[in-house]
Amino acid sequence: MANPNEVLTPKLTPTQFKRLGQFIHTNYGIQMPESKKVLLEGRLQKRLKANNLEDFTQYIDFLFSKQGQIRELQHFVDAVSTNKTDFYREPHHFKFLREEYLPEFSKSKNHVKIWSAAASSGEEIYTLAIELREYMEEHRGFTYEILGTDISTEILQRAAKGVYEEKRIEIIPLHIKRKYFLKSKNRENKSVKVNKVLQQNLKLRTLNLMGSLAGIPNDFDLIFCRNVLIYFNRKVQEKVINALCAKLKPGGFIFLGHSESITGITAPLTQIAPTIYKYTP
Ligand SMILES: C[S@@+](CC[C@H](N)C(=O)[O-])C[C@H]1O[C@@H](n2cnc3c(N)ncnc32)[C@H](O)[C@@H]1O
Repeated sequence: MANPNEVLTPKLTPTQFKRLGQFIHTNYGIQMPESKKVLLEGRLQKRLKANNLEDFTQYIDFLFSKQGQIRELQHFVDAVSTNKTDFYREPHHFKFLREEYLPEFSKSKNHVKIWSAAASSGEEIYTLAIELREYMEEHRGFTYEILGTDISTEILQRAAKGVYEEKRIEIIPLHIKRKYFLKSKNRENKSVKVNKVLQQNLKLRTLNLMGSLAGIPNDFDLIFCRNVLIYFNRKVQEKVINALCAKLKPGGFIFLGHSESITGITAPLTQIAPTIYKYTP
């Protein structure tokens, strides 16, 4: 017999899941196969609670209402996106930057412009900033700027704070940690904050790679677009990659995630190393 005191957790019906899945795919490129139903349901249950709604029928009506599009859509996007990231994720990209790209680039130029197009909570941006700062110490007069964008405003707010659990920077050598991170005074909390110097020359803004990129400059030297294309189908990947190419200077580079490639995609790119491509229009 059902326990009358038991609180029933709201469930997504197959039709509701399909509707939300199609909306997510059409607007944000992210695929929502059946295997993601439990994940989506769990994440959106928190949104039901936050809005004091009883079930998904009420939630969907609200989300697609005029008010909902203003008040809930960004929370919905935040809940839908997967933000896994790390400092020095895919270290060969930073090795390439340090040992090959920057020495060659700085023979003729002294300002590098970088876009992290799925920046998540900022680890990728701050890793880049550390590398650039280190390079600048050895090369006086060299400068950089970084633009970090992501579809999730909430995750970018975390990036802007630059506060991380101490264990997340374990991978970073001690002398670099000392230079670029400040330990929290509260020893129970075990967190670190990035040194302000890493937040110089850095801009963050919310951006959907599936939407208009009209407000994004078109003179980047490097674009990091890592571990986001995997959520898109080939057609969307091709569209996004070509849109990114249009934002690069000729000879600029695109860095993709470890399980991403441009195989089967028509784009003006030449592979230089695994997951590193040169824009060759
Ligand atoms: C798995 S994280 C990757 C973070 C980082 N680039 C890395 O490789 O560690 C993927 C990020 O892509 C963002 N994202 C997903 N769909 C997007 C879209 N259509 N436009 C912009 N960002 C998107 C998510 O919000 C998430 O923060």
